[in-house]
Amino acid sequence: MALGLGLESSCDETAAAVVRDGRVVLSNIISSQIDLHRDYYGVVPEIASRAHLETINILIEKALEESGASFKDLDYVAATNRPGLVGSLLIALLSAKVISRTMGIPLVAVNHLEAHLYAPFLEGREQAFPYIGLLVSGGNTVLYHVRGVGDMEIIGRTADDAAGEAFDKIAKYLDLGYPGGPVIEKLARTAAGKTVRFPKILPEPGDTRFSYSGIKTAVINYVKQNPGADRAGLVHGFQERVLELLVRRAFAAARSRGISSIVVAGGVAANGRLREMLDGEKRGSEEIIIPSPGLCTDNAAMVAGIGFRYFDAGRYDSCAVDVHGRV
Ligand code: KG4
Repeated sequence: MALGLGLESSCDETAAAVVRDGRVVLSNIISSQIDLHRDYYGVVPEIASRAHLETINILIEKALEESGASFKDLDYVAATNRPGLVGSLLIALLSAKVISRTMGIPLVAVNHLEAHLYAPFLEGREQAFPYIGLLVSGGNTVLYHVRGVGDMEIIGRTADDAAGEAFDKIAKYLDLGYPGGPVIEKLARTAAGKTVRFPKILPEPGDTRFSYSGIKTAVINYVKQNPGADRAGLVHGFQERVLELLVRRAFAAARSRGISSIVVAGGVAANGRLREMLDGEKRGSEEIIIPSPGLCTDNAAMVAGIGFRYFDAGRYDSCAVDVHGRV
């Protein structure tokens, strides 16, 4: 049996979790900074890193307490070191280094995107390779061919905005609130067939890229030309196009490679309409693996979870490991 502490501070959530054997979540504590950033409609790096610093020790104590473990019970400590806001990443990584040194336990530095794609394997499912990984969050939209632990080939990524970022920017433009994804999803559900039909994004076959700046401009132009347009129909049409591109790309990648499992993770994976669309597209033995909504957004259980896979394979990091803004 191995007990791991996971720490996460790459963006605007500070989180600490204790996980057993990379599978069983004993505690998963998250402190969201949404209220601190709401007035700015986005994450302010200086505010984020200061808030991480103020909260991380409290969260570590809570995570240990809730799991019934103490520092001396830990077998390893894992922290996200890439990608993210550099000043924010430093807080979890430095905390993990101190715990590793003082307790004499291995340190594992984790790729945040790989951690997201590990989230569904904390819910009783065995991780089986290969699979297509679709990571959709506020900062990233990336499609991977995942062959093993740390073995992920990028198939496609966004040429401009991330999908979650497009939700956030359209919500800001329409004055709907922050973060944009959940409010747009809710409003779109009330559209009752009055959708606005926006052009398909990047329709050519064989293209593996994502792009969201065109649809954003299309929405803005539509509002300028139709100032009284029904907001629900508008965001419904926007959401359909944004999600449809994710579904098309994920299935095209899986089918062209003969892979039947698609793992979808990141904040946008919490979207119920995306889940419906993915299920609707499934054929034969194809399976869609998505974490429950609470494990889609940033958390530290996924960090401790993927950290266990590295720990188990003896793939540790030294205290010289650094943070990286990009992967
Ligand atoms: O993974 P995450 O917590 O980390 C960041 O990248 O910050 O994702 C947050 C993003 C935000 O852009 C938010 O608008 C989006 O995920 N999001 C959603 C939904 N819930 C969160 N997007 C669409 N539908 C949702 N239900």
